[in-house]
Amino acid sequence: MPVQTLKMGLIGAGRIGRLHAEHLTSRIPLADLLMVADPFENAARSCAERYAIPSYGRNYSAVLDHPDIQAVVICSSTDTHAQIIEEAAQAGKHIFCEKPIALDLLSIDQAIEAVKRAGVKLQIGFNRRFDTNFRRVRQAVEQGEIGQPLVLHIVSRDPEPPPIEYIRVSGGIFLDMAIHDFDMARYLVGSEIEEVFAQANSISDPIIAEAGDVENAVVMLRFSNGVIGTISNSRHAVYGYDQRVELLGSAGAISTENNYPNAAIISDAHSIHRDLPLHFFVERYTESFIIEMMAFVDSVLRDEPVQVNGNDGRIPVVIALAAHTSLVEHRSVRL
Ligand SMILES: NC(=O)c1ccc[n+]([C@@H]2O[C@H](COP(=O)([O-])OP(=O)(O)OC[C@H]3O[C@@H](n4cnc5c(N)ncnc54)[C@H](O)[C@@H]3O)[C@@H](O)[C@H]2O)c1
Repeated sequence: MPVQTLKMGLIGAGRIGRLHAEHLTSRIPLADLLMVADPFENAARSCAERYAIPSYGRNYSAVLDHPDIQAVVICSSTDTHAQIIEEAAQAGKHIFCEKPIALDLLSIDQAIEAVKRAGVKLQIGFNRRFDTNFRRVRQAVEQGEIGQPLVLHIVSRDPEPPPIEYIRVSGGIFLDMAIHDFDMARYLVGSEIEEVFAQANSISDPIIAEAGDVENAVVMLRFSNGVIGTISNSRHAVYGYDQRVELLGSAGAISTENNYPNAAIISDAHSIHRDLPLHFFVERYTESFIIEMMAFVDSVLRDEPVQVNGNDGRIPVVIALAAHTSLVEHRSVRL
């Protein structure tokens, strides 16, 4: 009997679109990528050529109209996601959409409603849930290895800020960057965040402030099960991509270190040192991107629930908006 594959279309051939294209065409045997669309024809063409995708176009409606395509992967700019989700759902396509669904709750709710009406699947691209380090933390909580969770600390720092043009339209550090950490926090603790208090600065990079954003932020969290926590974000950690977690529980603690390109330690007369951590999300989270996409393909082919659904996409936006309000109004905000 022939193996059943999932026929897919890719919308958006930028940084993350090309990454998913590579995985879909070379690492995920049950995926069959038939088309890529991007308004920049060069981007669509070069992606199709690079990854041997049979067809490409400038308009994503060609992907939605393609009779063989069963599922779409939305990797276009954030401001297009909600509209494309609605249209893809109406076209009866299952949907994987990069985070965030949108920057406002009305658009998110309309998109989720359209998915529900159409009865298709929607998975949101919170890839860090599929990272082996963070999965182990979640497992420790689920299996009671550290007793009752009490205090969570997440450190999530980028090695360098994105281009200032990106920052201007990104929605700000909470919606663009910390959104992964808000998702991670509720996933790891297994409880909802009910109160946030945010502080931020842009001391060493005032251009970020001029673009209406902040360079560094700390968000204090209180969860509905009583756990408290912090998220420490920076757009600019000079020593590299810093992605760590520590969770203290009543019977112990669990922590995860950064991932490195090698395990070599150099010792000399002055210091003991090693190479910097894996440089950025493409290198650090490669495996998680593959596993999340395999999970989506499996969910559709087996007709099982997705592991990160529309509501999981919505809640971190609610938290991010509350963190922004907290920062602007200098007060804690209950959700
Ligand atoms: N999960 C993650 O870790 C992660 C990492 C990076 C980006 N993202 C998300 O992925 C999305 C894309 O980010 P990026 O870094 O790849 O941006 P990018 O600017 O590199 O690429 C976006 C691409 O979308 C295309 N596009 C714009 N409108 C389109 C439309 N109507 N139809 C088809 N294509 C369209 C653009 O031409 C561009 O090529 C963003 O929402 C971002 O938040 C997620």
